Amino acid sequence: MGEIVRVENLSFRYPEAAKFAVRDFELTIKGGEIVMLAGPSGCGKSTLLRTVNGLIPHMYTGEYLGSVSVGDHKVSEARMSELAQTVGLLFQNPENQIFMFSVERDIAFGLENLAVPPDEIRARVDEAMRQLGITDLAQRAPHELSDGQKQRVALAGVIVMRPRLIILDEPTSLLDPKTAVELVELVRRLRDETGITFLIVEHRLELLVRIADRLVVMSEGKKVLDGRPEEILADERAEAYGISIPPVSRLRNQLKRDGLPLENGFGPDELAEELNRQALKR
Ligand SMILES: Nc1ncnc2c1ncn2[C@@H]1O[C@H](COP(=O)(O)OP(=O)(O)O)[C@@H](O)[C@H]1O
Ligand SMILES: [Mg+2]
Repeated sequence: MGEIVRVENLSFRYPEAAKFAVRDFELTIKGGEIVMLAGPSGCGKSTLLRTVNGLIPHMYTGEYLGSVSVGDHKVSEARMSELAQTVGLLFQNPENQIFMFSVERDIAFGLENLAVPPDEIRARVDEAMRQLGITDLAQRAPHELSDGQKQRVALAGVIVMRPRLIILDEPTSLLDPKTAVELVELVRRLRDETGITFLIVEHRLELLVRIADRLVVMSEGKKVLDGRPEEILADERAEAYGISIPPVSRLRNQLKRDGLPLENGFGPDELAEELNRQALKR
């Protein structure tokens, strides 16, 4: 698939701010990729996401240099209503995205605003609920649901719009570890089944590195690293940029520095297997 996001030489400064929140940023994302964005708090991740979904410059003013394109739209020139059909955004807190009386009404809300015919709304809402495994919640009141269920309802409301790109800003921060893993697996399955592209900010690296095709690291508004997750996690600079390397990757890096010829990889099981292989060779 072709390119879906192109950020070129982008800089953005909020009014009154002394510094640019995003500086000289370059990024391209291919259709169907899962790209993870990481970096310390305040480094500009949410600001970058706003430039991709159009909140910047359409809702937030400021000094804007360079350009961002999503699909066929140049973000600064497109209307928000056009962008909303190409880019979906899931907020950190699903409460901000859930309001109606029942789960299915909630999911239908965006389509109703677009004046989509009722039969089509019905079909698309049913499909979205099926994809997210929440069909049995259709008649429930959203405020009665668990955080994980709310997050799925909010995501269904995004999926139902059939965007080409979905942006998630720290989607697991309110979820317990098990529910967070389920959400991450769900993202992987949605990408595999629908080819939707995902751009995800997540500080719990160990959760997302397994499904991400790429890891982009930001520091002070700039892109400082961009590559395959296992390469970035093995890069000594990553830690210096203030991202927290998962313990297993840290151990792997240490063992490599000690001279063990290990591949780059992720979980404890892979590391244990490699260490077993090394031991047998001796
Ligand atoms: N609405 C805003 N107005 C002014 N400054 C902002 C606004 N939002 C964020 N900032 C500033 O921009 C910088 C980047 O913030 P942000 O993009 O939220 O970082 P992150 O998501 O990585 O934590 C920070 O210095 C922050 O204080
Ligand atoms: Mg943020």
